[in-house]
Amino acid sequence: MFGVKISSIGIYLPSKRVSNYDLEKIIDTTDEWITQRTGIKYRYIVEDSITTSDLALYASLNAINNLNNEIDKIDLIVLATNSPDYIIPATASVLHGKLKTKTNLITDNTGSMDVFSGCTAFVYALITASSLIKAGIYKNILLVGAESISKLVDWTDRTVCILLGDGAGSFILSADNSIDKGIIDANVGSDGTKFDLIYVPVGGVKEPPTCENLSDRYLKMVGREVFKIAITLVPSKIKELLEKNNLNPDDIKLYIFHQANIRIINGIIENLKIDPNRVYNNIDKYANTSAASVPIAFYEALKEKLVKEGDLILFSAFGAGFTWANVIWRL
Ligand code: UT7
Repeated sequence: MFGVKISSIGIYLPSKRVSNYDLEKIIDTTDEWITQRTGIKYRYIVEDSITTSDLALYASLNAINNLNNEIDKIDLIVLATNSPDYIIPATASVLHGKLKTKTNLITDNTGSMDVFSGCTAFVYALITASSLIKAGIYKNILLVGAESISKLVDWTDRTVCILLGDGAGSFILSADNSIDKGIIDANVGSDGTKFDLIYVPVGGVKEPPTCENLSDRYLKMVGREVFKIAITLVPSKIKELLEKNNLNPDDIKLYIFHQANIRIINGIIENLKIDPNRVYNNIDKYANTSAASVPIAFYEALKEKLVKEGDLILFSAFGAGFTWANVIWRL
């Protein structure tokens, strides 16, 4: 058994920033409504020619440049996304091809796979990747959360388009001899009967695109229902995980929640009586970047030196599926 350390982190945000005031010009909404209901002020949106694998590439090159220890090779790429470049192959494979020409850490013996499970995907992928390292199967894994989710958005649907943004974050996870580093425990779950609370009806094999159904190729969301589930389910599952590990909310130095809605995050922290100083949020700057929100938030929390080696962190996410996951991690 090994411990798991985060050897490096990188992020990437597209250059085009869109404010709530910009959205006021194209849909029937206001800065006041968006800010009060969600906490969002801005989001970054990709240009037409840029896709998820490009954002993943830039965030991963940033993480590789930030490495300060010697890693000889990356054994596996795990990419969490809900806006894949293609249905086949995995976007992780497209990323592999792009990275291979830029770094000798990626070789023909580097595997590539996607995790495609809603906004929870990065936390699911973190559990998967760190378990493979802990078990001694792989030594170094590039773990990426990347989204060009704006391409799945109907920009006339004010109930969805105001919520989402594009971006990417990459962790390089490595085996460490201190066995108590990395994943301490996790809980996950899903309720597949609620798959259609957040989904893209057309584009898969169930509803292939035709001339008649193209308007349903965009993301649909029953936002109010998602809100109600998240605000009760997430705190109850965090409480279960903390109690199982004999931890109090104050034993966690930093909480990194999926940045979906500031009211959901505040509801969770009130319910669990978590000190707000132990919670890092950046939803105001980036909106909901789906599977990229957790790595982007953690990167910024690290930059602000909010945690140090040995601290406990809780990563938490929920989203389409309906899925949820929580991880207790020792830095
Ligand atoms: O990553 C996980 C994925 N998703 C989420 O986490 C989403 C979770 N849900 C939410 O964040 C919230 O439910 C929303 C922000 C989506 C909506 O907030 P809400 O407080 O639940 O509003 P609502 O859906 O109950 O809508 C209230 C009103 C409605 O008007 P009426 O029916 O009361 O006249 C909506 O039509 O607000 C209207 N509305 C808007 N008004 C201005 C909906 N979207 C907008 C908008 N601007 N963009």
